[in-house]
Amino acid sequence: MIGVAPRVGAIIHSRDTVGSTQTALAEFAGAGAPEGTAVIARHQTAGRGRRGRQWWDEPGESLLVSVLLRPRVKTAHVPQLSLVAGLAVAEALERTAGVSPRIRWPNDVLVGGRKISGVLAEASSGADGGVTHVLLGIGINLAQREFPAEIEGRATSLRVLTGRSPDPGRILAALLESMDRRYQRWLVEGFPTLRQEWRDRASTLGERVRMPDGGEGVAVDVAEDGALLVEAGAGVVRRVVSLLAAAEG
Ligand code: BTN
Repeated sequence: MIGVAPRVGAIIHSRDTVGSTQTALAEFAGAGAPEGTAVIARHQTAGRGRRGRQWWDEPGESLLVSVLLRPRVKTAHVPQLSLVAGLAVAEALERTAGVSPRIRWPNDVLVGGRKISGVLAEASSGADGGVTHVLLGIGINLAQREFPAEIEGRATSLRVLTGRSPDPGRILAALLESMDRRYQRWLVEGFPTLRQEWRDRASTLGERVRMPDGGEGVAVDVAEDGALLVEAGAGVVRRVVSLLAAAEG
């Protein structure tokens, strides 16, 4: 992970409506667009979330952005980028809107316990197992006053939190600046130097979580490679790379 990459957001393609900014950016990536290229849109008709979920937006009420990264790393390192992006979102929202975001592992950004932003990292790799590019998609709820029934009670927006409609351009600029700074650092130093910052922002640590095999435990730390460390009972600490959910109780 050595080298300095072009600035994140150096080229921004702005669209009104797309299926997904991830798909739009994939076309630029396939055509050889440079690292740092971004696509933003006012509305997505097929916004994608993690685990095959949809990402809902009302036209003009969200920040919808995908950034093209071309890190020379193994695919196994890519999930760290979504932790890095979660930190960038949290800092950008704190600086521009004065809210106090927390991060639910791996990368949901919450304010007051409700989700305000999500990150989706989609990687393509070559025959040698190395990454050819990563599409880093970030959605931030800006101006919504209400949400669909499925997410009502679990989602929030800057408008709900501050009573004001935020300036999307200002938030985008802060996000790209924050992401760029952390990405350059990650390329050189990896996740370990961002680890303490992540811990300081974590909402997950100390919470009960459910692991992919159905087992439960208490999240106790994040590892040097970004995996979640879960105390699963009898002093056994397990490394977890994805979670089913926060457990009840
Ligand atoms: C999640 O929390 O499940 C991740 C949500 C990621 C949503 C963003 S919006 C911009 C980009 N385009 C997409 O289709 N998804 C990501």
